[in-house]
Amino acid sequence: VLDIRKLYGEADVFTFDPGFTSTAACESAITYIDGDVGELLYRGYPIEQLAEKSTHLEVCYLLLYGELPTAAQLADFTQRVTKHTMVHEQMHYFFRGFRRDAHPMATMVGVVGAMAAFYHDSTDINDPWQREVAAIRMIAKLPTIAAMAYKYSVGQPFVYPKNALSYAGNFLHMCFAVPAEEYVVSPILEKAMDRIMMLHADHEQNASTSTVRLAGSSGANPFACIAAGIACLWGPAHGGANQACLEMLKEIGTVDRIPEYIAKAKDKSSGFRLMGFGHRVYKNFDPRAKVMKESADEVLGLLGIENNPLLQVAKELERIALEDDYFVSKKLYPNVDFYSGIILEAMGFPTSMFTPIFAISRTVGWISQWKEMIADKNQKIGRPRQLYIGPQKRDYVDLRHR
Ligand code: ACO
Repeated sequence: VLDIRKLYGEADVFTFDPGFTSTAACESAITYIDGDVGELLYRGYPIEQLAEKSTHLEVCYLLLYGELPTAAQLADFTQRVTKHTMVHEQMHYFFRGFRRDAHPMATMVGVVGAMAAFYHDSTDINDPWQREVAAIRMIAKLPTIAAMAYKYSVGQPFVYPKNALSYAGNFLHMCFAVPAEEYVVSPILEKAMDRIMMLHADHEQNASTSTVRLAGSSGANPFACIAAGIACLWGPAHGGANQACLEMLKEIGTVDRIPEYIAKAKDKSSGFRLMGFGHRVYKNFDPRAKVMKESADEVLGLLGIENNPLLQVAKELERIALEDDYFVSKKLYPNVDFYSGIILEAMGFPTSMFTPIFAISRTVGWISQWKEMIADKNQKIGRPRQLYIGPQKRDYVDLRHR
């Protein structure tokens, strides 16, 4: 056993905090979470009010600039975003280099990272104008890139953005329109997609946002930082949970099989967790899950598929888990991903697109946090320490003596 005082000095403070459960690495004025009461505020505004009254682009403005826009500011911002919705035509060739059956998240990590190779005029992080253009470019292009990844995976031609549509409507159009056929965006689905985007827009220092900040702390270009965030988001314990959750609901299949899965989740040796349950910060209901649940009921009702078996399994699973001692004692409530998958499936998205949609939505949060960090004069390169548990110093042994 090593003596920590010997390694790090008597006077130095050294904290060992796996998973950073109690270490703040930055100051931030963007998002506030009270996990005990289940409260989420963007720049002070409750998520429930924004989900009801706002739009994703307005929320993007709020997160980026700190205040809700006036009508003129919103019109200008919308115009700046829509100007950048197309991707460089040469990027089409880049897409074609991927295997057709690549997961869209794999394609997005590559394509967003490669944006630095296409947009040289917005990679200098010391130039505020370039930072601003990079931010707008990513907010504008991520839906196009995700939709292209989807179209490529199903073997359909890419669909160019239609800027007269809303941000969410345009994304649906790019995913579901096919040549020579009229595609009219359903206002129900458009509103539901917009709400999904708002609810996922930021969530303070989660794993992917911390990844973006850590990558950015070295001075890396913004496209590289966001690509790092997308890569981190992909994991099933984070953004990948929405895909994993829907796959789990499908596997359960019928209400009578729920007890079997509850028992498996309680058995540590199974290695199985109920996807869509639990959260590092929320030890009460995730406020986003409440809004998402209402949205799921609304969308499925309006589409006339409220008897969807998946929704029935989800509702019954929630009911049983919320009454179960194990889940109650560990404060494991449904999180935002529990219901988002059901809505996305009803919209016609394959499960592989769930996490890319999360990535589109979270882009503004990542960029707002990145901008805040770059503007912070006290910002340092992120460099966590470790608690070394390897061998003591020892001499090299020649190969013939080993
Ligand atoms: N099912 C069963 N048991 C669980 C679950 C779950 N979904 N989540 C946590 N637990 C148990 C753990 O086994 C642990 O038990 P123990 O105290 O007896 O060892 C206890 O609850 C605490 O769990 P931790 O893993 O220590 O909690 P942490 O804060 O590190 O993890 C996490 C949070 C990763 C979200 C976890 O709850 C989980 O894996 N959930 C399922 C995946 C998921 O839905 N992720 C989405 C998160 S939300 C988002 O990214 C938008």
